[in-house]
Amino acid sequence: MSCFPCFSSHGKKSSKRVNSGRTRQLPSAPPHSETPPQPPSENPKRPPTEATNNKAVTKEAGNNIAAETFTFRELATATKNFRQECLVGEGGFGRVYKGHFEKTGQTVAVKQLDRNGLQGNKEFLVEVLMLSLLHHEHLVNLIGYCADGDQRLLVYEYMPLGSLEDHLLDLPPDQKALDWSTRMRIALGAAKGLEYLHDKANPPVIYRDLKSSNILLDKEYNAKLSDFGLAKLGPVGDKTHVSSRVMGTYGYCAPEYQRTGQLTVKSDVYSFGVVLLELITGRSAIDTTRQTEEQNLVSWAQPIFKEPSRFPELADSLLQGYFPVKCLNQAVAVAAMCLQDDASTRPLMSDVVTALSFLGGGPEAGNISPSSASASPLDDKMIGMTENYQDEVAARERQQAIAEAMEWGSNSRAINDSSM
Ligand SMILES: Nc1ncnc2c1ncn2[C@@H]1O[C@H](COP(=O)(O)OP(=O)(O)OP(=O)(O)O)[C@@H](O)[C@H]1O
Ligand SMILES: [Mg+2]
Repeated sequence: MSCFPCFSSHGKKSSKRVNSGRTRQLPSAPPHSETPPQPPSENPKRPPTEATNNKAVTKEAGNNIAAETFTFRELATATKNFRQECLVGEGGFGRVYKGHFEKTGQTVAVKQLDRNGLQGNKEFLVEVLMLSLLHHEHLVNLIGYCADGDQRLLVYEYMPLGSLEDHLLDLPPDQKALDWSTRMRIALGAAKGLEYLHDKANPPVIYRDLKSSNILLDKEYNAKLSDFGLAKLGPVGDKTHVSSRVMGTYGYCAPEYQRTGQLTVKSDVYSFGVVLLELITGRSAIDTTRQTEEQNLVSWAQPIFKEPSRFPELADSLLQGYFPVKCLNQAVAVAAMCLQDDASTRPLMSDVVTALSFLGGGPEAGNISPSSASASPLDDKMIGMTENYQDEVAARERQQAIAEAMEWGSNSRAINDSSM
């Protein structure tokens, strides 16, 4: 397991966790040839090219492309020459600076892609194209970009509260932990962003790199997904998957995607399950500071998923018991369903959105008292979904017990036979 140290973010921490994962090409899957993304058929726009450079993507009335172009000088001025004090974070593809445009009074986040990065340029073009076409209240808005010379920069709406990772994992002692209903609201927002990409974008978009550092928060803790650089246009027609190099982040990547490089919307559902589990437990997907059997969050939680009576053990101690136990149980059941090894049995994001609407994140949620046993009103679908899961767990356990009894029976017969 590799570790990828990151820079501090939003001045809150002097250093991020050593285990903080960055997007990178993951080993172990056979390399596939990369198909350049095609724009959605409804919006046949070409991505900006080197030749068209800064004039490629401009505001066009009456269509979906709304990204502005900026000169390098404009962005240097906005970020005080990319000064250290404006640096808000650094990821696998470059640094992110807080910027301010005097003329408009607008505050923005400027992502300067690493020019030595293997995929910087390609990811840049993909991201500009994708974000220009996709708009949703739970996706970070791309304001514009700069492609001056060999510089590649993206200008996003500034998300004042930074990433979910900054609020959930390794909190400094003076930082208040997120409460249950905020956690569930963030989960619901992220789920809605994914649902939009999977079900409403045409063709569907597989996000491919969902993780807590890619979920950003506005001043009211509304979640928005950032970083579409790795997103792929999903399969169309009878194709069920898109083959690609395995890109992602350790701890969040679906097992079948890491094994085969075959990408489906269900790979995103798995990554969402990891984020939901992080929200429930306050633990990071990979944490090398813990003892070996607890370093991988999913492996640690899997045995507990099989025993619904143990679900409350998963709750983040920083919640101090302030959550409705039934809601916690349902949230764990949703996470467990998303994290199933068999991708085909994972729920769709639309089902997850329905389920989470009732777990303290949506307007339907009830009041929250410390470990109160009262549940929010759950609709039939939600109850059915999680009860099915719990029934399946019970059935699997029964089958295993029968198999073990049969094996024990045949072993003891064999011992008896040989002693006769
Ligand atoms: N639009 C934004 N507004 C405010 N802060 C942002 C914005 N985009 C990114 N950041 C901050 O910069 C940090 C680094 O973001 P970046 O996307 O470069 O890296 P990452 O998400 O940690 O890793 P990866 O490169 O794998 O996506 C984020 O964790 C977040 O704190
Ligand atoms: Mg990111």
